Parts: sequence; C-alpha cells; structure tokens
Amino acid sequence: MSDTVVIRPASAGLRGDVTFPGDKSISHRAVMFAAIAHGTSRIRHCSLGGDNRSTLQALQTLGVEIRREGDEVTVSGRGWDGLCAPARVIDCGNSGTTMRLLAGLLAARPFTSRLDGDASLRRRPMGRVIVPLRAMGAAISSERGDDRAPLRIEGQRLRGITYHSPVASAQVKSALILAGLQAQGCTQVWEPVRSRDHTERLLPAFGGRLAVHDTMVTVEGGQELHACDIDVPGDLSSAAFFIGAALVIPGSELHVRSVGLNPTRTGVLDIFRAMGGAITTLHLREICGEPVGDVVVRASSLQGIDIAGEWVVRAIDELPIVAVVAACARGTTTIRGAQELRVKESDRLYALATSLRTLGIEVVEFPDGLAIEGGRLHGGQGQSFGDHRIAMALSVAGLAGTGEMVLKGIDSVAISFPGFYDLVRELTGPTVTHV
Ligand code: S3P
Repeated sequence: MSDTVVIRPASAGLRGDVTFPGDKSISHRAVMFAAIAHGTSRIRHCSLGGDNRSTLQALQTLGVEIRREGDEVTVSGRGWDGLCAPARVIDCGNSGTTMRLLAGLLAARPFTSRLDGDASLRRRPMGRVIVPLRAMGAAISSERGDDRAPLRIEGQRLRGITYHSPVASAQVKSALILAGLQAQGCTQVWEPVRSRDHTERLLPAFGGRLAVHDTMVTVEGGQELHACDIDVPGDLSSAAFFIGAALVIPGSELHVRSVGLNPTRTGVLDIFRAMGGAITTLHLREICGEPVGDVVVRASSLQGIDIAGEWVVRAIDELPIVAVVAACARGTTTIRGAQELRVKESDRLYALATSLRTLGIEVVEFPDGLAIEGGRLHGGQGQSFGDHRIAMALSVAGLAGTGEMVLKGIDSVAISFPGFYDLVRELTGPTVTHV
C-alpha cells in the first residue's frame, strides 16, 4: 500500500464506541518480564505495533520461546539464565523502549550483545543509560563513540548504585531497575519528576520487590521473577488522537472503553479539560495494578492555555495531538519545558512548528517548546518526518481542517497503531484515501 493519504474534513464529526489496542509501554514490560521469569505467562490484549514486535523479536533472538494467537502472547520464561547469547545483532527497529530497557536487562547477562535500530533510533541519545549502567560496572559502549546506537554490551557482574537522573525518563528508570534486579546490593533511582510507573506497578505481579517513595525507586539485587497472566489496558496514547479529534470536530461524541488511566499518563486529559474539553471518566477500576476506566468525550469550545512542568512529563507522547488541538482553540497555547520532544522519534518541536505553519497556523518555536496561535487549519501538504505520532496528529489536523490534506510518510503509524486509518474511517466515514 502507498505511503501517502488524502484526508478530507470530517464534517459530520466522530461518533462511536471504541476499545483501543493494548498499551505499548505496558506490553513491552509485560513480555520482557515474562521472558526473564520462571514459567509460562499469558499477555492478553498485547500491543502488536511495530515497536512491540521489535521487543518480541529481540527476545526471540535471545532464545525465548514466544507464541502468538491474535493479540494474546504466550511467553515461556526460563529465568535470567534462560536467555542465550544472541547469534546476530538485536534489531530494536524504531523503539527506544526496546533498546534502553534491553540495555539494562543485558548488562549483567554473561554474554556479548549488540543492539541496533533504524536511522531514527540511531540518532537518539543512549548516554542516558550508558552512564549509569557503567557506574554499576557494566561494559556498555556506543560502537561509534557518540553515545548513540549501535551499542555493544559485554555482560558483567553489577553492583547497586544510587543514581539521580537528570531527566524524568521511564526508560532510564526501567533500564536501571532491570539491571538492579541482577546486581549486588540495592539500586536507587531518583527522578526530577515521576515518569510513567508501569515497571513499578507490573514487577510485583511477577513477584518482583521494589519500594517507591515520591520520585525515588529502590530495588534489591539477586531477585528471580515468576510467570503471571496480564491483561493489558487500552492505550491512552493511541486513544488521545481520537479524543483530541472528537473535542475539536463539531458534532462529535466518542466513548472509549477500558483504557489505561494511570495518573503518570493522564496529563493529556488534564490539559484538554483545562482547555475547556468536555471529558468524563467512568467505571474506574484496577487491572493488574493499573488504573483503567472508560472515557466519554464531546466536541467542545476550547481556549489556549500554558503547559509546563509536570504536565509535560505526564503528557510527553501526547504533545503532538495537544499542539493540533491548540491550533483549533481560541487564543494562544504555550508549551515550555518540553526539550525532550527534540530527541523522540523525530524532533517533534521542529516537526510540529513546520507542519502547523504549512497548514496556516502561527507558531513560535522555542528551544524547549512552542507557542501556538489558535486559528483555522486549512488543507495542504503534510509529512510525518517518519514519526508515528506526528503522522497521527497531522491526520487529525486534516480531519479538523477546512480543506483537503495530502499526508506523506504514513507507514510510520504502524509503529504504535497499525489500525489507525481503519478506525478513522469507521468513526468518520470515507474521509481518508490511500493514493
Ligand atoms: C516510554 C517512556 C517515554 C515515552 C516513550 C515510552 C516507556 O520515554 O516517551 O514513548 O515505555 O518507558 P522516556 O522514558 O524517554 O521519557
């Protein structure tokens, strides 16, 4: 299929009742923990987007037996020692989570591994895991000496450390927890703001012990994990594109079922509500240690707001759709303290500023953010910058716009949400054509 779509305004709005595929972050962790646990774990409603497939393939390269039936993944773990020296380079594809978490997991395995990825992943900073893992005694290096992939890891005995991470990063925290589980002594990780805490919530289900106090996590070394069955909640990050679209396209009403509502991830709902969005959460419950619920969203008249601090961390992956929603709101929205967006799958601040301007919106780009002047999104040409979240955010800009949009580089949506355009058609009618 072609890599380009034409998107027409969804003049009738979005209406429907939707369950989204499993959360990407939780799916990565569930299969990794299952791979190092003893016994057979079933991961139901697992995300099977490109990034999660990278994790599954990486674990198979390490000798783990994995079977898949629909979106249920069965992993037969044989403990830490069940992992074998990989016969080839482990390809992490586009997935930063796969590479950074595996770096921690493999740092203490008694063999040599090489981790590589696509052009985007090769541009992303790996010093943030290399530095603390080396402090634990790991032999991990960037093969080109530039703190970027490919990485080479020669398994070593590790010792626990106390580490104050300069960035709020769940990938760094999780890498150090995975290394810390295998180290001698305790590992303590401090973050400036608490990043997503799926590792902390899921490890106990596999029998892992850790202590969490505010923005600090402590894990004791020498732990073994045990198999367990996991139900993965729907991915709020995928749902956010449709929630954003429903807010800004008149006539919309969307019901989202069984979606993850972990407070470290719900910044996007708080931001949309603060802009005036009519969003209700219902049927709150807990599944496998994760808060889950339903979300009802109706088209709303929105106003611009200032976004900074903790909101940025709690909505880090949703800032592309927040920017598109801001383009449809009254007044100015500012996003500051979001320099992390420059080192995601693309430089998302540059990608958003450039794209929104092309679509008729006034945007100021700061080193750490954007100021977006709400206005009228007209049609035009867009490109994804090879980034799934930019592709989906711009698709919403097309649906919410006043004219036709030609969007290139849409193959990238399969990284997190292969069914994205099918769902767009289901909820809006024939608005999207592949050309
Ligand atoms: C993720 C953590 C976040 C997020 C990424 C997924 C995870 O990155 O942006 O999409 O699953 O741990 P950082 O940990 O680098 O902030």
